[in-house]
Amino acid sequence: MSAPAERRLWAIVPAAGRGERFASAAFGLPKQYTRLVGRSVLEWSLRALLAEPRVHAIVVVLAANDVHWPAIAAKLNSPKLLSTPGGAQRQDSVMNGLDFLLQKADPKDWILVHDAARPCLSDQDLGALIDAVAGAQQGATPAAAGAVLAAPIVDTVKRQLHGSGAAPTGMETVDRTGLWRALTPQVFGFAQLRRALQEASAAGVAVTDEAQALERLGLLPQLVRGSPFNIKVTRVEDLEMAAGILQMTESSQMRTGLGMDVHAFGAGDHVVLGGVRIAHAFGVIAHSDGDVVIHALCDALLGAMGDGDIGQHFPDSDPRYRGADSRVFLRVVAERMRAAGLHLVNADLTVLAEAPRIAAHRGAMAANLAADLKVSAQLINIKATTTERLGFIGRNEGLAALASVLLSR
Ligand code: CTP
Ligand code: MG
Repeated sequence: MSAPAERRLWAIVPAAGRGERFASAAFGLPKQYTRLVGRSVLEWSLRALLAEPRVHAIVVVLAANDVHWPAIAAKLNSPKLLSTPGGAQRQDSVMNGLDFLLQKADPKDWILVHDAARPCLSDQDLGALIDAVAGAQQGATPAAAGAVLAAPIVDTVKRQLHGSGAAPTGMETVDRTGLWRALTPQVFGFAQLRRALQEASAAGVAVTDEAQALERLGLLPQLVRGSPFNIKVTRVEDLEMAAGILQMTESSQMRTGLGMDVHAFGAGDHVVLGGVRIAHAFGVIAHSDGDVVIHALCDALLGAMGDGDIGQHFPDSDPRYRGADSRVFLRVVAERMRAAGLHLVNADLTVLAEAPRIAAHRGAMAANLAADLKVSAQLINIKATTTERLGFIGRNEGLAALASVLLSR
């Protein structure tokens, strides 16, 4: 008998809201598409989900008149991303997401719901929440009715006794013991969540999170303590708070990347390395100018950004890149790096060749690379080695370059 299939985990990201409290109209954009530290709020909200291997696929639920998603989907370029239209209320949007998954998911699978307006979800909190339902902690019993990220309330809580929201008068203190703020993501069984939302709708109950729908049925999801930094962008001032949180949590983030490129020698009288034309007894066989230094550097940068490789961005099947100056590639990659809010800490490059000798050209190469990256040449180190006449490089059949970079937010 085969082992029972593992319960897969699908994410639903409701992003169909109009952001009325945020005054989206003033920005000309719904809040989920507003810019925040170099990208849209929604891209930040998807960041941890895309990075978590246990998330099988992500359904982004969009407003009927959405025009912004296709460009983001193209940029993120992940096979995990799906989309479907949403509904009038948040719970209708989540329900549409579930309906969209009916043919794809098993009723026993897990559904994780995460607001498009929560850009500061950390990898750690997402991991802890999934652990809670998967029983990944040693000896832990998986939470049967799902789990919810939540933060304990630390302030003294008051309830106004009279007046409107704008002019409250009189108050009483609410005992804060055992009070939590419910955050997202929240995770539930597919069938359980669908039934709970259906019953809430049938009873005309508007729920403000998914857990509330399950609680109505007497089900008891588990609270998983999460970071209070996982805020929801609700009003304009929250955007500034989110920016501060992301700058703080992401600034300590270093990213490293590695690149390598090889070209065979062919007919010709020069090679191009780091944008410098160097006289040589051969040329290189290449679709572009065959600059192994820049190609290795581009791959290292893209690697550190988690953004694929050079072949993906500049396919050699594309006639536009025939004989292309590789410095153009480097400028495009540098632009993507800046757009992702990353900057270069340093780059270390090694040319592997028996000939030509590059010692005299190192300064010019570093200056070219620094100009294209818009950084100081001090951040770029270029060195060279032969391979002691061993292998294809030693036999003078071609040359290669290695690049290693460190980026920081
Ligand atoms: N949402 C949705 N469909 C709706 C309403 C809300 O998918 N019909 C989504 C929002 O896009 C957001 C999340 O649910 O990602 C949380 O809702 P909220 O913060 O209330 O966002 P909005 O409804 O857009 O804001 P507001 O209530 O201020 O209009
Ligand atoms: Mg709303």
